Amino acid sequence: MKTVFITGVKREMGLGNALVKKYLSEGYTVFASARDVEQEHLAKLKSEWGDMLHLIPMDLTKIEDVKSAVKAVHEISPTLDIFISNATAASSHGNKPIDDGMDIEDTLNTFDVNALGFIRLVQQFLNSDMLKDGSSAVAISSEAGSMGDCWRDDTIDYGMAKAALNFASVTLQRRLGKRGIRVLSIHPGWVQTRPAPPKANLSPDESAAFIYETIASPPPFNEKGNTGVYMNYDGSEKVF
Ligand SMILES: NC(=O)c1ccc[n+]([C@@H]2O[C@H](COP(=O)([O-])OP(=O)(O)OC[C@H]3O[C@@H](n4cnc5c(N)ncnc54)[C@H](OP(=O)(O)O)[C@@H]3O)[C@@H](O)[C@H]2O)c1
Repeated sequence: MKTVFITGVKREMGLGNALVKKYLSEGYTVFASARDVEQEHLAKLKSEWGDMLHLIPMDLTKIEDVKSAVKAVHEISPTLDIFISNATAASSHGNKPIDDGMDIEDTLNTFDVNALGFIRLVQQFLNSDMLKDGSSAVAISSEAGSMGDCWRDDTIDYGMAKAALNFASVTLQRRLGKRGIRVLSIHPGWVQTRPAPPKANLSPDESAAFIYETIASPPPFNEKGNTGVYMNYDGSEKVF
């Protein structure tokens, strides 16, 4: 049984749901997680895919929720081939310009969901000995987290959170790579999720298909240059 655990699957038009559909179609048993899994599109998928799809309720900012979710997965599968941290959160005032209404306290949830959510899950999967030689831990990142590429003069909250996620990914790769676990941080492209970013040129299904291939055949990790960790959906390198 090939297994994947994906967070942030609540929205039908979101990338998380597209990843769920892609992995199901490729024969994976999928653990699909959201704070609220009582969604019509998830019920429809469940009726189509039966035991290949497990809906796991979890708020990934709450450690007890995370532990319960990992325990529930472990009871079905003692190992996990792929973990994809896709959930994201934006704040309503934490994303404002620093001199025009930014509420710094309002950034904490963005950081918690995007950056800490990833390592919180990875740690619990490791504690349960579920990530093995050949497993992958994948963070869905953003170009917003690249200091080399950044162009915004606001949205510090999201950019900082994704930059922290990228840092976590490269650090985890150096540590967990020794066990044969592959860590990736992937910018999914500009994806037509709702509301679509102005430059969006990929459908969620197209982005999910690229991400599937990149996870299956990632570029080689170069420890000296820290390359092969942070990349575009198609596997091309991004600068930190
Ligand atoms: N769309 C793009 O062009 C683009 C570009 C660059 C990067 N990305 C990244 O791609 C990923 C997917 O993007 P998307 O637009 O498809 O995302 P999304 O559907 O807007 O967000 C994913 C889900 O995260 C969930 N979430 C928020 N807080 C949570 C928590 N505490 N616990 C569990 N789940 C929580 C949300 O559920 P609730 O509804 O319950 O809040 C939401 O359904 C994200 O990581 C995003 O940063 C997207």
